[in-house]
Amino acid sequence: MNVLITGGAGFIGSHLVGLHLNNGDSVLAVDDLSTGRRSNIEPFFDAEDFCFEVADLLDWPGLGRAVSGVDRIYHLAAVVGMFRVLDEPVEVMRVNVGGTEAILEEVVRSGTRAEILIASSSSVYGQTQGKELDEGLDLVFTPEGGGLTGYALSKLTNELQAIAYQREYGLPVAVARLFNTVGPRQAGDYGFVLPRFVRQALDGEPLTVFGDGSQTRSFCDVRDTIEALELLAGNKANDGRPVNVGNAREISILDLAELVIERAGSSSDVEFIPYEEAYGEKFRTIGQRRPVVERLKTTTGFQPKWTLEQTIDDLIERERVEAYSREVLV
Ligand SMILES: NC(=O)c1ccc[n+]([C@@H]2O[C@H](COP(=O)([O-])OP(=O)(O)OC[C@H]3O[C@@H](n4cnc5c(N)ncnc54)[C@H](O)[C@@H]3O)[C@@H](O)[C@H]2O)c1
Repeated sequence: MNVLITGGAGFIGSHLVGLHLNNGDSVLAVDDLSTGRRSNIEPFFDAEDFCFEVADLLDWPGLGRAVSGVDRIYHLAAVVGMFRVLDEPVEVMRVNVGGTEAILEEVVRSGTRAEILIASSSSVYGQTQGKELDEGLDLVFTPEGGGLTGYALSKLTNELQAIAYQREYGLPVAVARLFNTVGPRQAGDYGFVLPRFVRQALDGEPLTVFGDGSQTRSFCDVRDTIEALELLAGNKANDGRPVNVGNAREISILDLAELVIERAGSSSDVEFIPYEEAYGEKFRTIGQRRPVVERLKTTTGFQPKWTLEQTIDDLIERERVEAYSREVLV
């Protein structure tokens, strides 16, 4: 199978590259390296069936050629991460909405019957209140609720684009509403919580919890996430409706910080930072974010394999090995 992965040098994209190369597929990854890193995919550069292009998706001369010969497209390229989303609201719209349009239009133009998977986000639930987030819920957004609304609506627009192209052109599009994904290669610099906690715990620094830490999240290991995405992308039962992709276990951010400290055997404390200080503007977060995963299970039979403790232990181990190599090399 020929596979195109946009955002292929990113966190989730690079794991998908590995999965499909292991399956024996040919993979073309495109990425502008804005948050992705060449080092994420360096191990694959020797693979005969791997090709990588550095390009902005909206200005990529190779798009037509890439789309026309492909059997499956994972569209992951997007402006992501709390800090980037707040700092670059125009880029969020340009890339997240425009990039998806560019891909879908090219698929129509080329006449290819490629299976398409579009990465949406649990942020589409916006300020929707509810213990459990089900795909059928009415969605609530507050325009004054902070810059995250722009990101959430860009991702909701992606879902509507998917449904529109599916209805009008019959494109086989799957939409994954991704909840927090964690694991190796996730960068801490753009506002993702777990890599930051692990680094702080290993450095003996306080773990910085934004708000009072009572907000809950669900974390899915990226190695589980990519399996779910693979199952969804090739699934005949897809009808373009969004599918929650995540792990149903829920944990508060304060409990997560304490769990990381415990697993790392660290003497770090926890430091609470008001949202306004952390994000530089009036900010409202959603208190609870736990996916209902019934649609994912019934469509694909997917069951996550990684526990949060296993993921945290794995990240700690990798950070220690990296720190050791840095020391030895200096
Ligand atoms: N990681 C999560 O917890 C999570 C949660 C919800 C949704 N998602 C979605 O999953 C997808 C992948 O996210 P990720 O966590 O791997 O983040 P990431 O930042 O590692 O991946 C996004 C990639 O897109 C690339 N990119 C950005 N703009 C581009 C452009 N104009 N042209 C080409 N490439 C471009 C970036 O360089 C990066 O490699 C995104 O669409 C994101 O919205 C992720």
